[in-house]
Amino acid sequence: MKPKRNWRPARRKKNTSVDLPVGSVEVEFGIPIAGKILPQEMWTHCALKKLPEARPVDWNEVFSRPAPLVVDIGCGNGRYTIASAIARPEMNHLALDALPMVIRYGTRRANQRGLQHCKFAVVDGWRFLSELCDEESIAEMHIYHPQPYADPKDISKRMLNPEFMGLMFRKLALNARVYLQTDRQPYWDYITRWMPKLFQWAEVPGDWADEPTFRSRREILARKEGLKIHRGIAAKTQNRSASEVSALVATMEQPTFAIEHDC
Ligand SMILES: C[S@@+](CC[C@H](N)C(=O)[O-])C[C@H]1O[C@@H](n2cnc3c(N)ncnc32)[C@H](O)[C@@H]1O
Repeated sequence: MKPKRNWRPARRKKNTSVDLPVGSVEVEFGIPIAGKILPQEMWTHCALKKLPEARPVDWNEVFSRPAPLVVDIGCGNGRYTIASAIARPEMNHLALDALPMVIRYGTRRANQRGLQHCKFAVVDGWRFLSELCDEESIAEMHIYHPQPYADPKDISKRMLNPEFMGLMFRKLALNARVYLQTDRQPYWDYITRWMPKLFQWAEVPGDWADEPTFRSRREILARKEGLKIHRGIAAKTQNRSASEVSALVATMEQPTFAIEHDC
């Protein structure tokens, strides 16, 4: 009788980006991700695993230099932040997401490209704005394809609501901008209705002028689905007192719109 072979669990498929050869360009759904894989001795450590205890956080200290802070909230796998950190090494780049798994992908990619002054952290966008950053401290903010939260019982999780918009306004420096993009029409209608209450608002027809077409993973998928991508820029062109911001926020509606399905 043949001896029984020991049962072994099926081998998990390796994540290929770990093993990409030095000098190669990584592609995602056929679209290159900025930068090239460097030799391992040039890899950096872009994970921000433990936040400093002081509140608000001194981000210049975290990045070991004073520089304008660019924040990508709900960064997903970090495609935008990686491209921006490569193109603009003079800025401090902070990519945040509530989901640890996507932060691991982004961090590894940033490490493999040897990025300096680029950090990835598992942090909720709300917590970041309300607790972890100072008033008027952010030079630039990016929110690409905020989670739609289609299930009505999750509506309160939608990031862009009046209170969040008020916080964004307070935490941005004067003349700072927020870059927004979504493929969900109801979310877009809500954003375009309420962002102008606080910000100088401009819709961006077509692609971004200064960047390649694909800024984020979700954008690639949405385009494949044939969805229209909406883009806009909010500029903080004037200072307002905290009470003035609260009064404006109080006039705004909650994002209770219906959305058919999540992404
Ligand atoms: C539709 S994905 C878009 C990801 C990326 N920006 C892109 O365009 O590919 C939305 C992302 O927002 C994250 N997210 C949802 N709510 C969040 C919150 N309150 N704070 C931070 N990230 C959040 C999700 O984990 C998810 O990665």
